[in-house]
Amino acid sequence: MTPDSLDGNAYPVPAATPAGPLLAIESSCDETACAILAPDGTVLAERLVSQEDHVAFGGVVPEIAARAHLALLPDLARKTLESSGLARSDLAAVAASTGPGLIGGLIVGASFGKGLAIALGKPFIAVNHIEAHALSARLPGVFDGHLTFPYLLLLVSGGHCQCLAVEGIGHYRRLGGTIDDAAGEAFDKVAKMLGLGWPGGPALERLAREGNPAAFALPRPLKGRAGCDFSFSGLKTAIARQLEPYGSAPLPRQVAADLAASFQQAVADVIEDRIIHALAMMERPTALVAAGGVAANATLRSRLTALAGSHGLPFVAPPLRLCTDNAVMVGWAALEICREAGRRSLPLPDNRAMRPRPRWPLAEMAERFGAV
Ligand code: KG4
Ligand code: ZN
Repeated sequence: MTPDSLDGNAYPVPAATPAGPLLAIESSCDETACAILAPDGTVLAERLVSQEDHVAFGGVVPEIAARAHLALLPDLARKTLESSGLARSDLAAVAASTGPGLIGGLIVGASFGKGLAIALGKPFIAVNHIEAHALSARLPGVFDGHLTFPYLLLLVSGGHCQCLAVEGIGHYRRLGGTIDDAAGEAFDKVAKMLGLGWPGGPALERLAREGNPAAFALPRPLKGRAGCDFSFSGLKTAIARQLEPYGSAPLPRQVAADLAASFQQAVADVIEDRIIHALAMMERPTALVAAGGVAANATLRSRLTALAGSHGLPFVAPPLRLCTDNAVMVGWAALEICREAGRRSLPLPDNRAMRPRPRWPLAEMAERFGAV
């Protein structure tokens, strides 16, 4: 049987809102996570393991990540179900990040989710990981008053760096993104140069508190340029150049702190400038939203809060556990997709025939509803 022959009506076509809770799975990078959400978005249980096997390598090793997901996921799903107090048969749907991301991990999570869905005779909802980040700010309780479309999303993590106009469910307009490194990747690489551990972002931020952000004149790549693309590799090179005089000698702590603070300031300056451009590319945005691990950075957050305020907009950032990779956002995105299908009198999607995709452009998400 080919996977495609699984599509169609061999399984019950459910009504457009799951009649009960759904289990969501995240495994696109180095977090293995499960969550169970009620149809209204209430989180009934969640469990997450941040894989530590990568620390020794100073970055995520895809093959190790895939094997770790395989080892962790079955038990994590069982424990999540147990802590929700539900039985497997109570689940009305299963959702999983099915792309974009590291293909090995995506295959593990999506195959596990599909297998469970097939065994239960319930639909499988394939969630685009970036779409899940984009919608996470709409989770109940994140923003007082509920976030309405369109809003500007700045997604800044170890793997992503982009500005998206979130115009509706399935409607995401990419306004710009990085032309080289992601913001988190730049933090990690600079942290490594300064002799800090991995992931480098939090360590660099701590060290930067002891430093002078004006100590080093670093470039502000693409600042002032039309559009809202980003570039961080020049900044990384500029730091490497500042380190050259020290050779292999240990770097004085104050120099490291000054470099960390100057780098962080340069990144914040650049992001602020890019966001000003991105806001100008949208018609009446309702909010500035930030997600991804770098959105945890206090300097960046305060700059974005002030910037949003100067445009008369709220700044919304989900709490950290929902900003970084997690399964709650995957479950929430699945619920949003189901609700949108219902609003359009379409059946709930059942994507058990979909193959995981290392790349899955957001521009394709509108097709799910049969109209662009
Ligand atoms: O979203 P995330 O947990 O994972 C993905 O990359 O998908 O983001 C991790 C990234 C890492 O590059 C990490 O160094 C960075 O976010 N990060 C930070 C901070 N906390 C995490 N960067 C700057 N400042 C932070 N406080
Ligand atoms: Zn992510």
